[in-house]
Amino acid sequence: MTTRRHVLHVLAAAPALTACGGEQLPDPAAAWRNPGAGERDPRRFALAHAILAPNPHNTQPWLVTLHGEDGMALYCDLGRRLPFTDPFDRQITIGCGAFLECYRLALRHLGYAPVITAFPDGEPSPRLDAKPLAHVNFGARTDAPADPLFDYIAARRTNRSPYDLTRIPHLTDLQKLADAAYERTGEVEWALEPERVAHLRDIVWRAFELEMHTPGALAETFGWLRFGRDEVARHRDGLAVEGPLIGAAKLFGMFGRANMLNPNSEANRQALQDWRRKIDTAPAFAWLSMQENDDTPTGRLTAGMAYARMNLAATGAGLAIHPWSQGLQEYREMASIRSELRTALQNGENFPHMLVRIGYADPVEPAARRGVDAIMRPAAGAP
Ligand SMILES: Cc1cc2nc3c(=O)[nH]c(=O)nc-3n(C[C@H](O)[C@H](O)[C@H](O)COP(=O)(O)O)c2cc1C
Repeated sequence: MTTRRHVLHVLAAAPALTACGGEQLPDPAAAWRNPGAGERDPRRFALAHAILAPNPHNTQPWLVTLHGEDGMALYCDLGRRLPFTDPFDRQITIGCGAFLECYRLALRHLGYAPVITAFPDGEPSPRLDAKPLAHVNFGARTDAPADPLFDYIAARRTNRSPYDLTRIPHLTDLQKLADAAYERTGEVEWALEPERVAHLRDIVWRAFELEMHTPGALAETFGWLRFGRDEVARHRDGLAVEGPLIGAAKLFGMFGRANMLNPNSEANRQALQDWRRKIDTAPAFAWLSMQENDDTPTGRLTAGMAYARMNLAATGAGLAIHPWSQGLQEYREMASIRSELRTALQNGENFPHMLVRIGYADPVEPAARRGVDAIMRPAAGAP
């Protein structure tokens, strides 16, 4: 007999996303295949790569305008922020920075030396606003070799599978991540020693559990969950909950709002078990910090550029990475764990922006993307 428990176990084991076929819905994975092929405007080629950037909850909080012959202005799509868990838009700004770095890498690949101006109309405070986050121009033509990280943009993933506990990342590979991030002034450190890893697992897990018991955070995440293939294909954003029995689970009413917002529902209890397995298989952690006084909008944007580079370098080294951001978030309920985590990661004046488990895992399918046309905003004054 198929029980609710059984259905959820199967769902937890199922791949995160498979390409949608047969139905008249867009393929949510299409953006990952040969990005920018056939584009004649280098900016659209670069945007086709930029939209593949990692970003919180896969909200894809980007809007762009093209201006003149070579200009691109990046804005935040303000409705795609995460106001409860990310009250100062720090993580959203990091996602925008990751977008910017992929855009830059793609233009470098085409032989330009792009010029980026962060917050050209001034930094917003305390949250992002309608002003641009960056202007980018092609810059001069250059014969310097392109950055090899470009090659990993379409292969990069956030990998939430269980990791192989018998394989610890090599120092030489971790150093590649650090070198890549350092080019954007980000500093990558790591914990490999069993005691320190166990300590971090414990803090990270308590932060995750707290989030699962915080109604505002649960409600926010629920709004970005996409249940089943059709929902994924219809939205092409958010976090996919996918599996062969998703339809049955929906029929059971398991993914209804009331159920999902109840921390003690069977669905959430099973989800916690599944996530527990993920943290228990963390062989190591790595984190990205910036100097303390760089926790400014520009510093966060730069941290996002550094994080994209760290994630791409990990892909190049065959390493899987998976952020655990709960304990770094700035909402009131998280304050005490956040300070504990900062102490555990502290190194001088550095401000940690991203914390990931890192190791080796089976490959995962790409997360959905909406495509370049969905993020184009007409330039001011355009009809
Ligand atoms: C600032 C930031 C914070 C993130 N935090 C988490 C997190 O706490 N848990 C998680 O599973 N993924 C986290 N991610 C990964 C995103 O969810 C992921 O990038 C997004 O779903 C798109 O998937 P992709 O990276 O495979 O393209 C984070 C990414 C960024 C940039």
